[in-house]
Amino acid sequence: MAEAPGDRILVTGALGQIGTELVSTLRKRYGRDAVLATDIRDPDQDSNFSQGPFAKLSVLDGESMERIVVEEGIGTIFHLAAILSATGEKDPELCQRVNVGGTVCVLEAARDFGLRVFSPSSIAVFGPDSLKTAPQSSPLNPTTIYGKTKVTGEVLGMNYWKQYGVDVRGIRFPGLVSWKAPAGGGTTDYAVDIFRAALDDGHYECFVSEETRLPMMYIDDAIRATENLMDADKAHLGTSRVGYNIRGISFTAGELADAIAEKIPGFTCNFVPDFRQKVADSWPDDVDDMSAREDWGWKAEYDLDKMVDEMLFNLSKNQSS
Ligand SMILES: NC(=O)c1ccc[n+]([C@@H]2O[C@H](COP(=O)([O-])OP(=O)(O)OC[C@H]3O[C@@H](n4cnc5c(N)ncnc54)[C@H](O)[C@@H]3O)[C@@H](O)[C@H]2O)c1
Repeated sequence: MAEAPGDRILVTGALGQIGTELVSTLRKRYGRDAVLATDIRDPDQDSNFSQGPFAKLSVLDGESMERIVVEEGIGTIFHLAAILSATGEKDPELCQRVNVGGTVCVLEAARDFGLRVFSPSSIAVFGPDSLKTAPQSSPLNPTTIYGKTKVTGEVLGMNYWKQYGVDVRGIRFPGLVSWKAPAGGGTTDYAVDIFRAALDDGHYECFVSEETRLPMMYIDDAIRATENLMDADKAHLGTSRVGYNIRGISFTAGELADAIAEKIPGFTCNFVPDFRQKVADSWPDDVDDMSAREDWGWKAEYDLDKMVDEMLFNLSKNQSS
């Protein structure tokens, strides 16, 4: 393996739901200038991104990516650029191009320049034939295009690790709930949108049924998991290194609405499933994360109540400031 051009961090898709939080966590830890945020679109003038290094970069432009890696002295890429499940079902060609093509560009740069890579996977790798609580080792037969691109991402990551020694790591994130950035076009977006609607309108129309149960996680847990996995000793990572299951919270859409109604009296929610119901139905209710617990000590800190409190507190604070 080549020696990396430096030890700075490049984040792709940095303006999205995860990147917005990950970039500020990494900048707090390593210093503002150590983290180069990139995305295909420009940041808002008044956002945090205007206060640190930012470059416009499409993950499909391998040449520019490799130039930036060298010029900016990059050692690690956190590869977050992707097209998520709901948007992907509407534009499968774009989803395939960005999710698979972008991951290949990142892995090629990592191979050429000896970089470490974090490349997230998703619970969308599971299909209807998986157990309700999906084990780490399970048939991966997703029905969605997005899920198929995520399986391909895991296979590619494992190939680059085995064939070229590229240190690629990844987590099968559950649906993520956060308040700083809007959700990015996924099937679990209702678990984010419901909070803003509860505060603004006292009512939400949910696009999956009341009984829909999915694996979910509060963003702080997801960011901590990302850091923990990247900090883990390489020798401790087993065959799950590019797609660890991690467990957060498993709740139904109805349970989430009830938990919010307990804090916001009068909040109502009705359930009007659309095309995303089929996607949700193809995913497991929960995941088994024994490998992540054993290999790098994973443990979630947020349950449903704690997450609802955090979401309502932060969104209300944000609205009044
Ligand atoms: N958010 C979740 O609930 C969730 C769950 C499981 C897995 N994941 C995975 O985590 C990663 C990040 O997800 P997210 O929620 O932050 O997504 P997001 O949709 O919020 O953000 C993705 C970002 O990628 C950018 N982008 C799109 N095409 C690009 C291109 N060609 N080049 C560069 N940037 C491009 C977009 O502008 C956007 O800012 C993805 O791999 C996703 O599959 C997310």
